[in-house]
Parts: sequence; structure tokens; C-alpha cells
Amino acid sequence: MLDGKRILLVIGGGIAAYKTLDLIRRLRERGASVRALMTSAAQEFITPLSVGALTADRVFTDLFDREDEHDVGHIRLSREADLIVVAPATADLLAKMAHGLANDLASTALMATDKPVLVAPAMNPAMWSHPATSRNVAQLKADGTSFIGPNSGEMAESGEAGVGRMAEPLEIVAAIEAHFAAQSGPLSGRSIVITSGPTHEPIDPVRYIANRSSGKQGHAIAEAAARAGADVTLVSGPVTIPDPKDVKVVRVETAREMLEAVNAALPADVAIMAAAVADWRAEGASGQKIKKDGSGKPPALKLTENPDILATIGNGASGRPRLVIGFAAETGNLIENARAKLERKGADMIVANDVSPETGVMGGDANTVRLVTKDGVEEWPTLSKREVAERLVTLIADCLKEA
Ligand code: CTP
Repeated sequence: MLDGKRILLVIGGGIAAYKTLDLIRRLRERGASVRALMTSAAQEFITPLSVGALTADRVFTDLFDREDEHDVGHIRLSREADLIVVAPATADLLAKMAHGLANDLASTALMATDKPVLVAPAMNPAMWSHPATSRNVAQLKADGTSFIGPNSGEMAESGEAGVGRMAEPLEIVAAIEAHFAAQSGPLSGRSIVITSGPTHEPIDPVRYIANRSSGKQGHAIAEAAARAGADVTLVSGPVTIPDPKDVKVVRVETAREMLEAVNAALPADVAIMAAAVADWRAEGASGQKIKKDGSGKPPALKLTENPDILATIGNGASGRPRLVIGFAAETGNLIENARAKLERKGADMIVANDVSPETGVMGGDANTVRLVTKDGVEEWPTLSKREVAERLVTLIADCLKEA
């Protein structure tokens, strides 16, 4: 799996550094070559001698080492790799990376690289949950850095429990393998924008119009597309499920914000509109909480139509994605309604599903869908939402190949 892959391992200064010795062995067992770069703090925990014995290569430690600079140089070092893995990624290293500081060999190499970076954070739980670390992690994710862990459990040095333990070597290996699998995946090099979840349309500052969408199907598609190597932007309404892995998530509340975020994510090869967008919003939502006026009569709620995101994208003349896919959640006349939506919204395909209360689809884990295109209808058996996502991703990859 990792045959011939070149990994630059940046070892940070944390007690979890000892696990990187095993990580090097596991990577080399699988055919990867590992070159190690250690921060000075890392050398307080493990020695370059043991790291070098395991990598069977020179270990790089000093930005100002004339010999190293002459032979390799920090710029080349950071580019002569297929992937850079930072383990353990300390709070300090994450902060430097997020802010673009470059004052030692590790941070300079990380700034100079044009290669993907995977980090395995390890730190005390209080440091991990500190708002500064959360900000740095969010920034790094937005910049395209991938994360593995940290896990929850007991800390090696203090015995304290919480989230902050570095992922185990085999988990890091699995993340590295997944990274390379995605690179050669059927959607590698493709960009996809996906909407998911409901929208919330304010009536006043405390009340809103919403629907029962859980976001499970849209999120599952985003995760499956990322696994297949796509560059995925997920525009999500308010949901309670976790973010899918390796996906850029843009959080929105209203239909209008969702449309804006989708437009910002274009151009893309594919658009999949799986969100249950509220068709209407309250006209002139009140800036103040609406109070009972004592008359016993409820206030009139005047609704106005929201923009149709799918129709805007599907019927868009310039910059239309090659493939535009919509969903149709129906409680009757499934195919007929889906066909009408296909036509009206300029979509290439509508994934139609029956959401009558007895199907349990809304919020459930299974889905029975039919794919409606201008060429006909394909029926899929009842599948988990994850399986629907995987099949859809395969189908999309085939369509893009043909196009
Ligand atoms: N959709 C959208 N923007 C809207 C409404 C719907 O992008 N304002 C998208 C949904 O994400 C979905 C498709 O359009 O992909 C169909 O959504 P659905 O709610 O079933 O269709 P509606 O247009 O709302 O039609 P109706 O309410 O008449 O069933």
C-alpha cells in the first residue's frame, strides 16, 4: 500500500514522541521510506540516534547546519516527500503552523512545503481544549491540513484523562494509507460542492422555521466523496451530527446564506444539493422578540419564497458544474414530482425518496431511493445512507469519465 511513498516525519517535543519510533517501523514495514526531522524539544524525549537507526537515514535537526543545508536544504527537504506527517504535533507546533511562524527547521520546512500535511496532535487535555488551540486547529483545517486524533484516554506524563492523547501508530498508518488511497481514488482531482441539513429561517431573534432534516445523507455523501479523493466543500445548515472527515465545512443558517456559500464554492465539477432548504422565510423577520399583544389573536406570519439553490445552479448559464444533482423528498407521486423537478431546476439527476412518516427516512439511517434522469428511472434497494452515498459517488465518477 505504501510502497515507494516518501514520508517526511516531523517529530515534535512531547512525551508521545516515543510512539513515533514504532510509527517509523510500521511505515517502513509497508514499503514507505521515512525521513525524520526533529525539533529541539523532541530531542529532549527521544534521540536522533534511535530515530536514525529506525529510518536508516540521516536525521535533520538544525536549520543552521551548514552541511545539511549544503546537501539537502530545508526547502528541498520539505518537497522531496509525498506527504509530511507531524507527530506528535504539540500545541506550540500547531500554533506556529497556523500563524506561519518559521524560526526553526521544523516550522520552516512546514512553511516551505507544497506537499499535503497530516498532523497527529498530542497535548494535555486542557491545552487541547484551550480556545487558542481550537482557533489554530480550525485555521489549519481551513488551510487544508488533515488531522488524525487526538484520542481520549489517560495522558502518559500526568495520568490525567481527557482528549489529547496522540493517535496510536497504527491509526496514523491507516490515515496515511487513506490519504494515498484518496489520491488515486476515482474522484481525485475533482471538486464537489454539497449542501446538507435543514435551513433555519428566523421569525424573530428567538424563533425560526425549520424542518426535520438530519443532514445524515448529505454528510455521508461528502465523506464518501472525500474518501474517493474529491476536494469537497460541504455547505451545511444547522445539524447535530459530526463533521465528515477531510471535508471543508461551511456552516450556514438560512437559505440565502446557503446560496451565497454555494456560489462562493464554485467553480466545481459537481454540485449535489441534498439540503432540505426551507421554501419560505418570514417576510421582514422582526428584530425584536414578537410579544403577545393581549388581544388573544395570534400575529399574522407572512411568508416569502426563498431562492431555489438547485434551480439557480442547474439553470445557471456560465460556470455551471458538469453534473448537477438534486434530491426530491416526496410524500406522494414520487417519480412524477421528481421528473418535474429535474426539468424545472435544470438538474442532470434527481435522487428521489419517499419521506412519508411511515418510511422513517427523515432522520433515520436507511434510505430507499430512485434515480431519475432524462433517460429514465433506476431503482435502488433499501440501503444505509452510507451505502447510498458510496453508490452515488461511484456513479458520479463513471458519469465524469464518460463526459
Ligand atoms: N432546493 C434548493 N433550494 C430551495 C428548495 C429546494 O436547492 N429553496 C433543492 C433541494 O436541496 C433538493 C431539491 O431542490 O435538491 C428539491 O427539494 P424539494 O424540497 O423536494 O423541492 P421543492 O422545490 O421544495 O419542491 P416542493 O416543495 O414543491 O416539493
